Amino acid sequence: MSNAADLQLLVSPDREGNALLGRLRVPGDKSISHRSIMLGAIAEGETHISGFLEGADALATLSAFRRMGVEIEGPDRGEVRVRGVGLRGLKAPDGPLDVGNSGTSMRLLAGLLAGQAFTCTLIGDDSLTRRPMRRVTEPLRLMGARIATAEQGTAPLTIDPVPSLHGIDYAMPVASAQVKSSLLLAGLYAQGETCVSEPAPTRDHTERMLTGFGYSVRRNANRVCLTGGGRLIGARLQVPADISSAAFLLVGASIAAGSDLTLEGVGINPTRVGVINILRAMGADIELLDRRTAGGEPVADIRVRSAPLKGITIPVDQVPLAIDEFPALFVAAACASGETILTGAEELRVKESDRIQVMADGLAVLGIEVEPRPDGIRVSGAGVGAMLGARRRASEVDTHGDHRIAMSFAIAALRTLGPVAIRDCANVNTSFPGFAALARSAGLAIDEHRL
Ligand code: S3P
Repeated sequence: MSNAADLQLLVSPDREGNALLGRLRVPGDKSISHRSIMLGAIAEGETHISGFLEGADALATLSAFRRMGVEIEGPDRGEVRVRGVGLRGLKAPDGPLDVGNSGTSMRLLAGLLAGQAFTCTLIGDDSLTRRPMRRVTEPLRLMGARIATAEQGTAPLTIDPVPSLHGIDYAMPVASAQVKSSLLLAGLYAQGETCVSEPAPTRDHTERMLTGFGYSVRRNANRVCLTGGGRLIGARLQVPADISSAAFLLVGASIAAGSDLTLEGVGINPTRVGVINILRAMGADIELLDRRTAGGEPVADIRVRSAPLKGITIPVDQVPLAIDEFPALFVAAACASGETILTGAEELRVKESDRIQVMADGLAVLGIEVEPRPDGIRVSGAGVGAMLGARRRASEVDTHGDHRIAMSFAIAALRTLGPVAIRDCANVNTSFPGFAALARSAGLAIDEHRL
């Protein structure tokens, strides 16, 4: 993994105005890219992926499968060919699999590896090594898996082979697509039926993609089930542009006067559109154009124009549908008129960073009144048209190595009086390689500095 401390983003307000304009495509969806490699690897026959995200997280998943003996060609401009080895064809890697910053790789692989005939250890960077893993190791153990963790239940995870796994009927205590997916992947190797119930809808890319690979998945209300021992057949997959990456530009164009931006081919899966619903409730001008389906997922071109935003109380049912977009949404709240209140979002404290505290600290640097709470935040918006931060010297904010915090403050600088210096930004590359160049092409005055 790259050293996250060595890259700073400097965003300077532009005297000509800071509108975001034009038509562009953000990189491929991270969640779908991970799953495309995982399912392609354990399918029979070849899987051809286009639009694959060439960011560090999805590439960590890709190299993990190469190290388990899967032949993978690419990525080459988003094209990847995976020669599937079938459910039982993975081989023991020659050492621990390092998945860097990627929680999705670690949690989903834990489930998939629980059913293999070899021992495997998963390791990650400092941030990932602090994140909770019991949410997957505990239910996987109920299925018969043998998994050792560090004392706090965290990585490294060492997964030993067992004679067989058995299906369980598991009610998840947290609404987590990673936990659901981990158990479903283990369920492919388990005897009998594995069912997972979710307390609130979470992203359903695993279920959709399994179906696309010819595997039967049954959903009944909030419960999803599959039976182990079937086969996956290689498929052609088109990865939509990532709505989580689009989110920064949706917020940016909303808060920067005179903006008119169209984002092409963005995934608008109903389990991911919380950011659109919340921004619209705040008064954003967002249109979904040319709705279509790609690779079993709904997509659209999204046109966003600047609009006066107002603070809202965010409906709790939108929280899992926008779980990765809150750092950007807090910036929208900071530029809105009135108060925005978020509750029911304690999960934000265990993401790549504590996103409630780290955003609160950065927004405070920009002069915004914030009240972080155990399960959310209250943000007092500066008001429509009001500018944030100090005029002369650069405001310095720290990302704690969190990619989404870095990009959120970059777009906040569309509405600051002076420059914003954002520290510890190398991890932007985990989800949005080329962010600075793409944002610059739309009109953001952003520069990268290696320190
Ligand atoms: C993801 C699920 C979410 C999300 C993460 C990606 C996935 O995590 O925050 O960025 O690909 O399944 P949780 O399952 O922990 O909510």
